[in-house]
Amino acid sequence: MKIGIIGAGNIGGTLGRLWVQAGHHVRFGVRDPERVLPLLDELGSGASAGSARAAAAYGDLVVYAGPYGAWPEVAEDILSSIQGKTVADAANPYPERDGAITDIVARTGRGAGLYTAGLLPGAHVVKAFNTIYWLDLRDKAFAPGRLLAMPMAGDDAAALRAIADLATDAGFEPVVIGGLDRSGDLDPGSPIYAKSFTADQVRAALALNSNHHGDRS
Ligand SMILES: NC(=O)c1ccc[n+]([C@@H]2O[C@H](COP(=O)([O-])OP(=O)(O)OC[C@H]3O[C@@H](n4cnc5c(N)ncnc54)[C@H](OP(=O)(O)O)[C@@H]3O)[C@@H](O)[C@H]2O)c1
Repeated sequence: MKIGIIGAGNIGGTLGRLWVQAGHHVRFGVRDPERVLPLLDELGSGASAGSARAAAAYGDLVVYAGPYGAWPEVAEDILSSIQGKTVADAANPYPERDGAITDIVARTGRGAGLYTAGLLPGAHVVKAFNTIYWLDLRDKAFAPGRLLAMPMAGDDAAALRAIADLATDAGFEPVVIGGLDRSGDLDPGSPIYAKSFTADQVRAALALNSNHHGDRS
């Protein structure tokens, strides 16, 4: 699969590495491609870099792993390239980094996933890859014994299935917690945020019933 990843830092770079290792092709969308040359050297022919718009156009699927505060500008830039595509949002709003948008999202009371979906009309937004601490992403993929969970929320079944498959390919157990109206349960401060939880622990912490087995229904 061709995956466009906007942002190549802790989260974007680590996801890209895991997906290239799984046999996918990744194009990172960055402001300065020179800065990702060491990562591209490491990943070999499965990885390339260009602008955010180039990455969005390249990907069958697009993942955003930049600062939440940059979302409005990036969304405008990539909008024509992501029509009909699945876009996973790994970004979290933090006031010290992202400024006013943090308050704006909080005031909606509906979760960052729904806010992001509002920025991306025509795309199938899935909130995913945003609750895991990046060192867990890097060091606990394919954890022996019991995989760590990759919680996600979205409204489109096919989009959820595609992102769940990518979570599996990265070495985690996908857990669909519900539609985007539940995406607030994935935001900073939620009981599962930045915890090294298994799927069962995620379901227990969010009081999900046992139908939510990452069944992507
Ligand atoms: N760190 C974690 O444990 C963690 C866990 C889950 C989710 N997240 C979320 O994932 C996102 C990325 O976090 P991170 O830790 O990977 O950050 P990071 O290491 O600082 O990487 C951020 C990436 O975004 C790019 N970027 C910065 N400003 C940008 C802009 N204005 N427009 C487009 N791209 C820009 C950066 O590239 P250049 O500056 O080189 O252009 C860099 O590639 C954040 O929203 C964060 O809240 C982080």
